[in-house]
Amino acid sequence: MKPTDEVLAERRARVAKRWELTDEVVVVRAGEPAGWSGTDQHFAFLPHPDVAYLTAVGSPGTTLAFDAAAGEWELFGPRFTPERLVWEQPPTPVGRPLDELEAWLSQRGDRTVIELGAGATMPEALPSPAEADGEETENPANAALRLAAAIALERMTKDDAELDDIRSAAAASTAGFEWVYQHAAPGMTEREIQVGMEAQFYAAGAPRVAYDSIVASGPHGAYLHYVYAGDDPLRPATRAVEAGDLLLIDAGAQFGGYASDVTRTMVVGADPTDEQEFLWKLVLSAQQQTIDMCRPGTVWREVHLAAARILGAGLVEMGLLRGDPAELVTQGALALFFPHGLGHLLGLSVHDITSVPYSREPSDDPLLSRLGPNRVLEPGMVTTVEPGIYFIDALLGDPARREKFAESVVWDRVDELRGFGGIRIEDDVLVTDGDPEVLTVAIDKPMRIG
Ligand code: GLY
Repeated sequence: MKPTDEVLAERRARVAKRWELTDEVVVVRAGEPAGWSGTDQHFAFLPHPDVAYLTAVGSPGTTLAFDAAAGEWELFGPRFTPERLVWEQPPTPVGRPLDELEAWLSQRGDRTVIELGAGATMPEALPSPAEADGEETENPANAALRLAAAIALERMTKDDAELDDIRSAAAASTAGFEWVYQHAAPGMTEREIQVGMEAQFYAAGAPRVAYDSIVASGPHGAYLHYVYAGDDPLRPATRAVEAGDLLLIDAGAQFGGYASDVTRTMVVGADPTDEQEFLWKLVLSAQQQTIDMCRPGTVWREVHLAAARILGAGLVEMGLLRGDPAELVTQGALALFFPHGLGHLLGLSVHDITSVPYSREPSDDPLLSRLGPNRVLEPGMVTTVEPGIYFIDALLGDPARREKFAESVVWDRVDELRGFGGIRIEDDVLVTDGDPEVLTVAIDKPMRIG
């Protein structure tokens, strides 16, 4: 559902309130399509998410300006020449023609102009209050980061129109996963499964996928971001699923700019082995228990660590690790098998607002440095919850790690499972005032298909 003008006005008012500007002029740009070098072609365009949030327009060139002294917003959009309209359909017209922006800025005299969105340059982090010593207001790059972070804080919790789009994205994803459950079978290639699934996303109304679909069979499931043509974009390989393989699918449709992000792992065409069944149930249990923790006031780091301890206890029970699960987590042994964060915020990007420093608390701890939003959960946040267990050659075959974890890892047992692949189960969870709401609950979790 496209947000109404009233909803957009509310978003802008909340952002302007956070900005606390009195005299400056702010320009937020959607950006332009990126060109493919050596050709006259361009990659598919997506607007800077801050512009999508504040305008609900996706056309290249869309630019939103704010005059803090007047408290007024002005929207500018591209206009095509007749010559260009011979080749391309017109973009959705918005506001005033973009070529009037320069004159609009000139009318504001020599007031400070702060650029945000596509093309804006800003530092990695703001100086600490002690270091800043007034510099923040004098340095436009610091000011830009402060304003961008304020938009991020607004985008962190979703309004009803945003949730509506995420629900539509989840519904389109449901259609795709249902197709997989009915059609995937031994002998089909990963590519055939990907294309069949994505066709259902599009048939359900999704304009695009939220990210490159991961359709990984057998040992490929151990590459966290295994994608078609990841090996060679010119001549990609694709593997046929074998009976008894694990098939890990991490995919999601996008709708109205909003992502869904779902992972299911199934055994195809055979009953699960004891190891597959034990680990599948372990990952599911870790997911169910940590989804239940997604409640206001909970620190995300604690949810992540709880998942890690549950997985650690399971690996001890299975005889792959030795020791106390909590210690296995803190010493890093568990991260050999669960080397990513439990989840990330979801919204106008699949990893929403992670590029803004305020959204992620820095950590030197290798266990936590890739942890998504290490924040206190609030109603309106949408986060993925995606524990996993993997047998990753790059980690398990590394001599330094084998030596470091000689006592805590039962290497003989682990080496028997090299080539197992991976199991991940992921849903999109809305934090509410009450129980967490799983937005992707309609997507079944079969342990076996085909
Ligand atoms: N769904 C892919 C990722 O979260 O990285």
